[in-house]
Amino acid sequence: MQRYEIAKDIYYVGVNDRHKHLFENMLPLPYGVSYNSYLIVDEKVALVDTVEGPFAEELLDNIKEVIGDRRLDYLIVNHMEPDHSSGIRTMLAHYPSLKLIVNAKTIDMLKGYYGLNEDVMLEVKNGEEISLGGRMLSFHFAPMVHWPEVMMTYVAKDQILFSADAFGCFGTLDGAVLDTQLNLGLYFDEMYRYYANIVGKYGSPVQTALKKLGGLPLSMICSTHGPVWTKHIPEVVGIYDELSSGKTQEGVVIAYGSMYGHTEQMAEMVARGVASVMKNVRIYDVSTADHSLLLSEIFKYKGLILGSPTYCNEIYPNMQYIMNKIATRNIKDRVFGYWGSFTWAGAAAKGFASFAESMKWEEPVGLEIKQSMTQAQADELFELGRQVAERVKKAFIK
Ligand code: FEO
Repeated sequence: MQRYEIAKDIYYVGVNDRHKHLFENMLPLPYGVSYNSYLIVDEKVALVDTVEGPFAEELLDNIKEVIGDRRLDYLIVNHMEPDHSSGIRTMLAHYPSLKLIVNAKTIDMLKGYYGLNEDVMLEVKNGEEISLGGRMLSFHFAPMVHWPEVMMTYVAKDQILFSADAFGCFGTLDGAVLDTQLNLGLYFDEMYRYYANIVGKYGSPVQTALKKLGGLPLSMICSTHGPVWTKHIPEVVGIYDELSSGKTQEGVVIAYGSMYGHTEQMAEMVARGVASVMKNVRIYDVSTADHSLLLSEIFKYKGLILGSPTYCNEIYPNMQYIMNKIATRNIKDRVFGYWGSFTWAGAAAKGFASFAESMKWEEPVGLEIKQSMTQAQADELFELGRQVAERVKKAFIK
């Protein structure tokens, strides 16, 4: 078999998952996902992270292909989420003398998830180093990117950062692992969706981690998901910096809920208003759209317009679901517009207004419409879209 040697004596030994439909049992995986593990072969041999349990035997085969019957000395546990840690017991079963390199927060999780004793673990402190013989590994804690125990491992000799989930994305690695060998459009799109849904709540810890890493020379970033980044490191760091610092692009996302098509017709009018000012306008039906994609679009663009009928004296439930996701991630500083529709008693418009207030966004542009849309109301909806787009445009004028 062809081995993936990504740098001298450093190997990609991860796996592709094309079986799982929903990541975290929620997020669609149209292009699959990779669980990345790396093997550093020196006087001592170290594995960086494992893979999800059902793929542990495949990981073991990949390791044996590189080191044959040699012993695996260290397993560096950068991240404990089970997509990377549920292969640990298989590794321990095959390599009984294996030492797990962990930090204080990892220890509790290893005990809790896998019933492991501390005698298989070697605790490191932030910034501490261990030697593999010809290489020193240093450990840099990055709490909340994306769990509290996360650390990154740096190999100064090769200028390689093993970054846990950071700089990761969905999408399997089809036939190659380096960014220079892959068509990257898919991975960059999936990086936005991955960030928004997985790491998006933790923008400020990501910024802290980026600042910490700013001084390290980097020739390669090895994340736990997606390509190994080499030539494209500046773009990838740029995307993470953009998203974690709350920077946005010029554009407006329109999302609506509609039971019988009236609110959908209104969305078309709003979109025409936006399109009279700018080209970047995206419309999503909250009942049929993939919410993970919708959320990544909301992360990306400055403008957001939501439209909903009143349902049981509240906002339409599928709309409320995406609003909860926005609130959980504390998405900041959106130019916001809304319209609420109703048949006999309106509640959606009020709900949107108080949502904008709770998010501390600037005063929104809002409308309320009873039953089906009149020509005059179509004009008002056009104007709603136009005004939001004008505000968005103004926000990008230097
Ligand atoms: Fe891919 Fe947070 O685990």
